[in-house]
Amino acid sequence: MSTLAVIGAGVIGLSWARLAREHEWDVTIYDPRADIADVVAAELGADPRIRVVADIAAAVAEADLVQENGPERLPIKQELFARIIEHARPDAVLATSSSSITATLITEGLSGAGRVLVGHPFNPPDLMPLVEVVPGRDTTEDATERAVELYEGLGRVPVVIGTEMPGFVANRLQGALSREAVYLVQQGVVSPADLDVIMRNSLGLRWATIGPFEGNVLGGGPGGIRHLYAGVGAETSKIEFGTPATDPERMETLIGQVEQAYGTGVEAFERLRATRDSRTRAVLAALED
Ligand SMILES: NC(=O)c1ccc[n+]([C@@H]2O[C@H](COP(=O)([O-])OP(=O)(O)OC[C@H]3O[C@@H](n4cnc5c(N)ncnc54)[C@H](O)[C@@H]3O)[C@@H](O)[C@H]2O)c1
Repeated sequence: MSTLAVIGAGVIGLSWARLAREHEWDVTIYDPRADIADVVAAELGADPRIRVVADIAAAVAEADLVQENGPERLPIKQELFARIIEHARPDAVLATSSSSITATLITEGLSGAGRVLVGHPFNPPDLMPLVEVVPGRDTTEDATERAVELYEGLGRVPVVIGTEMPGFVANRLQGALSREAVYLVQQGVVSPADLDVIMRNSLGLRWATIGPFEGNVLGGGPGGIRHLYAGVGAETSKIEFGTPATDPERMETLIGQVEQAYGTGVEAFERLRATRDSRTRAVLAALED
C-alpha cells in the first residue's frame, strides 16, 4: 500500500488524488483554502482512504510520493518545498507538478534537494498518461528511478527529460502550436471553433496514435523520412510562421471569440469537461486494445 501526499488541491491536485485512489493508494491532502474539505467531498466523495489534513507536516509524514500542485509562483514553491523536505520521510520522492519552474530553481539554497524533481503531468493527470520527470541539478539518480517506478505504479507513462528547460518538452510543443493558432485566428484565416475542428480531425487524431517523427516516416511512403524531407518537406519548410499580437486589446478580442464559441462559467466548464473526459476514456480504451 502506497501513500500520495497532495499539496495544493486545485484542478491538478484533485486529479492526482482521483488517480491515486483508483490505484488503491492512501491519499492525504493539504490546501490552505478554507472550504477544502467541502471541495474534496464534492469532487471525490466520502472515502476513508482520502484524508484532508490541516498542515504540510501531517500531509507528508507517511507519503511515498509527495506531489506539489500549488500556485505557479517560484517563492510559493520554494517555501512549500522547504517545509516538505523538513517533514517528509527520507526515502520519499518529492515532486512538483510545475508546468515551467525547474527543480533547481525551487531548491536553490535548500539542503535535501536530492529527493526533489519535477513530475509534470498533462491535464487531467488521472486520464492523461504522460508525466515528464525532470531532475534538477542536485536530484539523485535514485530519486529519479524511484519517481519513474511510482508513476508507473499509478499507471502513468513517465519520460525522464535530460536537460531542464522552461516548459520541458510537451508544453514547449504546445506553446509553439498555440502561437500559430492565435496568429491564424487574428489574421482572420480561421475561427477558433474551426481551428479546433481542423486539429481534432487531423493532427490530434494522428498524434493519439503515432508521434510527429513516426508520422514523417509514414508520410514519405516506403522512402521514409528521407523522401518526405526531400519532397514535400522541401516546400513546407519554406513556410514562415507568424507572430501573434499580444497587446491587451487584441488578446481581449481573441478571448471574446473563444468564449463565444464555447461559453463561460461553471455550466460550460462541466459540459466541456464531461465531453473531454468521456472522449479521452474512449480513445485510451481503443489504444489499449
Ligand atoms: N492546469 C493545468 O493545465 C496544469 C497542467 C500541468 C501542471 N500544472 C501545474 O500544476 C500546479 C497547480 O495548477 P492548477 O491548475 O491545479 O492550479 P489551481 O489554481 O487550480 O490550484 C492551485 C491550488 O493551490 C492552492 N494553494 C494556494 N496557496 C497554497 C499554498 N501556499 N500551499 C498549498 N496550496 C496552495 C489553492 O488553494 C488551489 O487549490 C501549477 O504548478 C501548474 O503549473 C497545471
